[in-house]
Amino acid sequence: MTDKAILPETVISEICDELDQIKSPGAIVEIGAYRCGTTIELAKHCPDRTVYALDAFGGPGKIDSFKNVDFGDVQADTAPYPNIRLVRGDICETVKTLNDPVALILIDCDDGEPCDVALEHLVPLLVEGGRIVVDDAEFEGIKQSCNKYLDGWSSVKNESGLVIRQR
Ligand SMILES: C[S@@+](CC[C@H](N)C(=O)[O-])C[C@H]1O[C@@H](n2cnc3c(N)ncnc32)[C@H](O)[C@@H]1O
Repeated sequence: MTDKAILPETVISEICDELDQIKSPGAIVEIGAYRCGTTIELAKHCPDRTVYALDAFGGPGKIDSFKNVDFGDVQADTAPYPNIRLVRGDICETVKTLNDPVALILIDCDDGEPCDVALEHLVPLLVEGGRIVVDDAEFEGIKQSCNKYLDGWSSVKNESGLVIRQR
């Protein structure tokens, strides 16, 4: 397991368990990928699924606390995994370029606006049985977006604090 993931190993393993339950094909979309530590684990677990990793990757963006990322390192680390697609830039813009069917959306951007735009664009692309996994679901902006786009969806909070939503 990589040391470049912010999400703990147990949490990544729980996301993999969710993926194992999704029978339909479809991509994984990580909203906020940082150094792609989690991305790589998901890509290894699901070599047949495309994993889109969306982030500023140290470039211009609204969140200053994650600027210490060398995009060259991210490219080198992810190069061995042909199913990873790096999507660099402001998520509020880049997420609109995705059009594949989506099996799992991982929201881990620590901010309400990209979460809101991502859910608005990606929820219609979610396959039958697809999942939305939300970190920091108690954060007010993220909670509001989930209430707006996922009203009536089942919601399970697991021991790690991840909230998993399924239609
Ligand atoms: C908590 S970190 C992601 C951690 C990663 N999922 C992991 O497990 O290692 C949040 C990331 O969201 C990114 N982010 C937040 N808002 C963004 C935006 N509007 N556009 C691009 N990236 C954004 C930050 O650059 C940061 O890398």
